[in-house]
Amino acid sequence: MENNNKIKKFIELTSLRFDQENSHKLLNELINEIKLHDKMYFNNDSPIISDGEYDELKKTLLDYTKRYPELSMSHSYIDNVGSYPSEKFAKVLHSVPMLSLSNIFKNSELVDFINRINKFLSLSSNSNIEFIAEPKIDGLSASLKYVDGELLVASTRGDGIQGENVTENILTLSGIPKSIKHSDFPSIFEVRGEVYMCRDDFFELNEKMILNGKQPYVNPRNTASGSLRQIDPEVTRSRNLHFFAYAWGEASDIPFNTHYEMIEAFKKWGFDINPYTKVCHSIEDLLGVYEDININRSNLNYDIDGVVYKVNSLLLQDRLGYIARAPRWAIAHKFPAEKAISKILDIEIQVGRTGSLTPVAKLEPVTIGGVVVRNATLHNEDFISGIASNGELLRNGIDIRVSDTVTVIRAGDVIPRILDVDIKLRNQNAKKFIFPIECPVCNSPAIREISSVNGKEGSIRRCTGGLLCQSQILSKLELFVSRNAFDIDGFGKKTMNIFFQEGFVKKPDDIFTLELRQKNNDINILSLEGWGELSLSNLFLSINEKRSISLERFIYSLGIRYVGENNAKIIASHYIDTNSFMKDMNRLGKADRVIFDDISDIDGIGAVVVESLKEFFEQESNLIIVTNLFQMLEIFKAQDIIGKESIIFGLRIVFTGTLKNMSRAEAKSKAESLGAKVLSTITSKVDILVSGDDSGSKKKKAIDLGIRVVNEDDWYNLISEKN
Ligand code: IVH
Repeated sequence: MENNNKIKKFIELTSLRFDQENSHKLLNELINEIKLHDKMYFNNDSPIISDGEYDELKKTLLDYTKRYPELSMSHSYIDNVGSYPSEKFAKVLHSVPMLSLSNIFKNSELVDFINRINKFLSLSSNSNIEFIAEPKIDGLSASLKYVDGELLVASTRGDGIQGENVTENILTLSGIPKSIKHSDFPSIFEVRGEVYMCRDDFFELNEKMILNGKQPYVNPRNTASGSLRQIDPEVTRSRNLHFFAYAWGEASDIPFNTHYEMIEAFKKWGFDINPYTKVCHSIEDLLGVYEDININRSNLNYDIDGVVYKVNSLLLQDRLGYIARAPRWAIAHKFPAEKAISKILDIEIQVGRTGSLTPVAKLEPVTIGGVVVRNATLHNEDFISGIASNGELLRNGIDIRVSDTVTVIRAGDVIPRILDVDIKLRNQNAKKFIFPIECPVCNSPAIREISSVNGKEGSIRRCTGGLLCQSQILSKLELFVSRNAFDIDGFGKKTMNIFFQEGFVKKPDDIFTLELRQKNNDINILSLEGWGELSLSNLFLSINEKRSISLERFIYSLGIRYVGENNAKIIASHYIDTNSFMKDMNRLGKADRVIFDDISDIDGIGAVVVESLKEFFEQESNLIIVTNLFQMLEIFKAQDIIGKESIIFGLRIVFTGTLKNMSRAEAKSKAESLGAKVLSTITSKVDILVSGDDSGSKKKKAIDLGIRVVNEDDWYNLISEKN
């Protein structure tokens, strides 16, 4: 009521005429009032006025400044008011992408990791490569770019390619120098690391929240993330966040030869580094550090969720390079999954975007590792019956039934799953679960396909309804907006579900016309419960932010069967530009054999994938959606940022024979990192054949076709000219 009166007062006062001094005073009061509500909205998510009231205030300010433009000259704040949410954070394009890490859980996987590295580097299995081991901090990563020793811009990871500019807020953290005067600090250098909140600060903050009758925060990681992305840096300061430096991005120079020396330099330059960082010389050393850190875990004042192992030599790191979104030279060894006992209340069947019927156990809610778990995957029909994917018995052949008491296991971000059933506690009346043979959503038959590879029946039952099945369409839409695809903030499963049911979004391109249709009154999102002007304009802002996207994400987001992130990346990097991708897909859809063979020729892409791409693009409806999206979006190639300057950028290369100095995998990875495309067969389109020892028919064919053939030494000379 009090707020309502205040708003009315502002509306009334701004309609009156005052002298200059008093007009300024009124304007200031109004701006301060709006700033207060900005703060309440963004801090702690606890607005004290409704979205409608906020909009009224904003409109009052806009009207007032329109009538008296001379007044607004001195207020930078006003420039932003018209487009309020854009005040949040500007985007920053990472010149070196911010990667993630692959995970392992078992000690034996560490052995595999090291074997893979040795093989890639053509080293013997007892090469004794040096590693470092350090805790994996459970916070959010940030990148700090220094130019001539001054902090220029700090950004969040975002999607790894583009993050948010949080420079002002970062400056409030401890362990981050604003300027660095050391002579060995490179003139351009991006320090990367983890922003985190200490546990005791987290508990203290939550005590305050509870005292004030507010909902407490879930965990230190989410709270750190929210605290860093505040519009008022003073709020960030009050949250007392910290930063551990552990990596780097763009660098004009790298003054040391090992990761460990770099970490020591970080310390000298004024950053906090993690004291548990250790150099290791063997698997035993690495596992020893893992055990030490695990034992000490509960004594630490910050959350960690594993140990990261990194190859220490920077030269070897460089040779190992990257695969998809993770370096080959590092891995995260996660702490063991946590378990709990619960009861199955029901078994639900969910239909995925490729029609797969996945059984999900609805559980009596149970807390595992600080998170409330209500669902666990049951994988497939055979898993419920007690049969493993290799045909052997699972759980001694004991099946899973509704009302069973079960052990649930949850590892990190992975979906919880059922580990075991306590048969002694089974209810006498519990019935065997009968897996449906029809899709529960569209009633089409659900079948288990016979694999074309091994002639065996697959374990997944699939709905045959295709685009007739609402659930498949909805799952495809959910994938489209999900984190590794378009990553549209505030467009989670719940919103997508409602928009789909209401008919606002029936296909992916509808997402990008929502704003226009709302403006034209073709749809009315505001009529839905819980939606106000502010939340709607935030949603439109999030959508508009994603009108620019990399080709690989774009391809992945289409949800084509067998085209996961890795294949999407391989396909995207094959194309020089996005238009040539579109042209080829059009032709592939029309069963063009040349294009089919061309794509099959990309190293790493098998016929199953090409067949699936063809099936997707031969459907007129899919082509229309993709063409519409192409017109509405700016689709760029992530590669554009990376390898453009190399001499082999865009060239098609085939390797044949045995290379003396590099494994084939390393040679391929190096060529790709320089923007080349590596193919597996010789056709007239190939630009260079790199021919090692014992190269046979390929070399002859290349010579016949007039293709440039280089030996291994020429190849190294070629790529070291400009890389
Ligand atoms: S190294 C190129 N070291 O884990 C290597 N990451 O799952 C990049 N993280 O996004 C990462 N502690 O936010 C590295 N000691 C550590 C880490 C660490 C936490 C986070 C980081 C990254 C995520 C990958």
